[in-house]
Amino acid sequence: MSSVLADKRPTSKGQCEKGIEDFLTDVRRGLSESQKCIPCKYLYDDRGADLFDRICTLDEYYPTRTEIALLRRHGDEIAEFAGTNSCLIEFGSGSTHKSEILLNAFRNPSVYIPVDISQQQLAASVDAITHAIPGISVKPVCADFTTPFKLPAEVAEMNRMGFFPGSTIGNFTPSETHRFLARVIGILGSRASFVIGVDLEKDERLLNAAYNDAGGVTAAFNLNLLARINRELSADFDLKSFSHHATYNTREARIEMYLISQRPQIVTIGGRQFSFDHGERIHTENSHKYSLPRFRAIASAAGWRSTRAWVDDANLFSIHLLQSD
Ligand code: AVJ
Repeated sequence: MSSVLADKRPTSKGQCEKGIEDFLTDVRRGLSESQKCIPCKYLYDDRGADLFDRICTLDEYYPTRTEIALLRRHGDEIAEFAGTNSCLIEFGSGSTHKSEILLNAFRNPSVYIPVDISQQQLAASVDAITHAIPGISVKPVCADFTTPFKLPAEVAEMNRMGFFPGSTIGNFTPSETHRFLARVIGILGSRASFVIGVDLEKDERLLNAAYNDAGGVTAAFNLNLLARINRELSADFDLKSFSHHATYNTREARIEMYLISQRPQIVTIGGRQFSFDHGERIHTENSHKYSLPRFRAIASAAGWRSTRAWVDDANLFSIHLLQSD
């Protein structure tokens, strides 16, 4: 059993060892299922995060630039919901660029709270926002935002606006999304607002192009998962005999990303062997897409009022504004 102190101040060594153990357990478990799979969070190590940043700049990958344009275009309107004496709470703190756009539109941005599981990521966010918006008070919270966590006490009396951009919510299944949204009410409290970027359902040719880019950046991002397993879990995946494939599943309204074995083969991971048939797939990520009404239905079932939604002219991406009573 761990003490309160140990929970609050894990040594970095302890954290690393636990991280590696969980990683090995998750990979072994996933590869033992009949549909082999690996949790998508493992795609985002340092190298994976760099590759994802490159994906965001690709011609085929419309979400990032479309969401940024929506934030620029409607920032003033969004800011009205934040009012004065406001505090912006960002779930995950990848790049602070999008928060900056919102905070600059706020009349009186007082506090910015990035929430992230990585201390390193948090430190980078604090640095970036402090330079971009002089005078802002930054109160980072180190937490896994998919589990309950507490906001700093001093923001209880402020206007609280949560922010979850990037359609990261698309990694969750619809029922996980429902549970997550319900939990966020508990975190932000009553009379709060929540701004969420949600990718829209659309022609599947556009989706397939966005997740199978011609330059192969998404393929490199997906294959980096196997390289990471080789590096961290002493495995011997032959990267050249797996290929990337993303495909739209119409029934589930989601992009599914796979790594496909190009030949029958046996891979050793931390001393255990896993066999792959020719053409057998490892499921590595889901990216769910929603129409406006379908997302609204989940949000209201989770206890939110769906107050507004903004969509670009080409109907590619949406930003929802939810409010709690
Ligand atoms: C980080 C989950 C928002 O689903 O579009 C992009 C991940 N994977 N290309 C997405 C991703 C391959 C991305 N999210």
